[in-house]
Amino acid sequence: MLLAAPVAAQAADSLDNRIGEALFRRMWVAAPTATQAADGLGPLYNARSCATCHPRGAGGRPPDPAVKGDQGVGYAIKLNNDPVYGRQIQSNAILGQVIEGRPRVSYREETVRFPDGETVRLRHPTPVVEDLGYGPLAEATVMSARVPPRVHGMGLLDRIPAGAIEAEAARQAAAGGPVAGRVNHVTVDGRRQVGRFGWKAMHPTLDHQDSEAFSLDIGMSTPSYPEPWGDCTPAQTACRNAPHGDSKQFEGLEIPSTVIGLIDGYLRDLPPDGSLEAPKDKAGTALFADAGCAACHRPSWRTAEDAEHPALSGRDIFPHSDLLLHDLGPALGDRLPMGEANGSDWRTTPLWGLNRLAARDGQLSLLHDGRARSVTEAILWHGGEAEAAKERFMAMPAGERKRLVRYVLGL
Ligand code: HEC
Ligand code: HEC
Repeated sequence: MLLAAPVAAQAADSLDNRIGEALFRRMWVAAPTATQAADGLGPLYNARSCATCHPRGAGGRPPDPAVKGDQGVGYAIKLNNDPVYGRQIQSNAILGQVIEGRPRVSYREETVRFPDGETVRLRHPTPVVEDLGYGPLAEATVMSARVPPRVHGMGLLDRIPAGAIEAEAARQAAAGGPVAGRVNHVTVDGRRQVGRFGWKAMHPTLDHQDSEAFSLDIGMSTPSYPEPWGDCTPAQTACRNAPHGDSKQFEGLEIPSTVIGLIDGYLRDLPPDGSLEAPKDKAGTALFADAGCAACHRPSWRTAEDAEHPALSGRDIFPHSDLLLHDLGPALGDRLPMGEANGSDWRTTPLWGLNRLAARDGQLSLLHDGRARSVTEAILWHGGEAEAAKERFMAMPAGERKRLVRYVLGL
């Protein structure tokens, strides 16, 4: 445990960190209130706190269509800027406002057969919005469902030098094979940066990701997203005219930069769960490489040198992701480009932390919309640049497939 102890100690010791955690859990309330310190929720929003959608930093799950009224955990439907509904369906509203709708999903099941006869059922999702509050969506509007990713270990991903990510993309391009990951360049604060957070790597920094969450998910203004009505469009006049929580004592905003900074700091110090060392299972490591998984799920990186944080500086870490975009084919595509990411491009998901979920294999919620209930299902959805890796997995003897899945669940 080279890294865990210092990170954990630092996290536990820091008062800022505990404040950051409290803010991550804080239930924001509607404006106006006497103190103004916690108000400005909505008017339309998805959840009242970060922790509602990211309980203990774990990932979320889609609604279970078999359970009436189930909303899943942190499940959200993104839109390509609908003229009325904006960029996301907000499923909650403060008193007196009308919700945009209730995000749900319906599934069509398909049976996939391995060459050796074993079968797996995959569920093809169709996102659905029930009880639309502001009329139909525009003809051209595309819906893309998302579950929250696991947020542990993000501070370490943040410490991978941008130049190293660019170099990995250049190396893959030069290799000339089917696997050719690309950087999602996003311009934030007038600077073209390397995107690394979110399912399509559209956020270059934690600050940007967290600020967007306040705007889209909670409906609160921040320095990067100064509109107090969050995602409400000009067509949603009642929302735009409702009281808001912008206040002079907080930089004229609902959420000042100090609050964002404390939440960023809390997330930055959350260590990944248990995978701070190289995997010990040599046979599993070899299968992972031979199948071609490691081509995108790059096992290790070295963090940047940082004299101020010696415990985190120049360390080998094992996220099992190249942080690049790959085209995984139409079956996973959502026709919703983000930055330089096309509809069927996704960022290679870091696999560390899956060990925490291992006991639940068979009822996991993997991939961007949580459609895959197990690691095997997740692999079978891989296509496009990952088609060959999937085929190698399918052609393995059952024992090797099991071994590979167990390896992935141990990361
Ligand atoms: C309504 C549920 C919801 C709320 C509330 C919410 N999030 Fe998220 N969060 C998500 C979803 C869904 C994603 C994935 C978005 C995407 O990439 O498409 C996400 C992504 C993230 C990520 C990126 C993780 C990664 O691996 O790249 C971070 C960090 C994050 N959220 C932090 C926060 C913070 C901080 C707050 C509170 C200010 C917050 N979230 C509030 C649902 C939510
Ligand atoms: C061409 C690049 C590429 C290759 C090769 C590849 N993957 Fe992936 N993998 C991805 C991307 C991109 C995603 C995210 C897709 C999504 O969420 O829709 C992903 C997602 C996953 C997930 C889901 C993780 C989660 O938390 O949601 C698992 C598990 C996984 N891959 C395992 C594997 C295994 C095992 C192999 C080898 C058989 C493999 N992958 C090969 C790019 C790749």
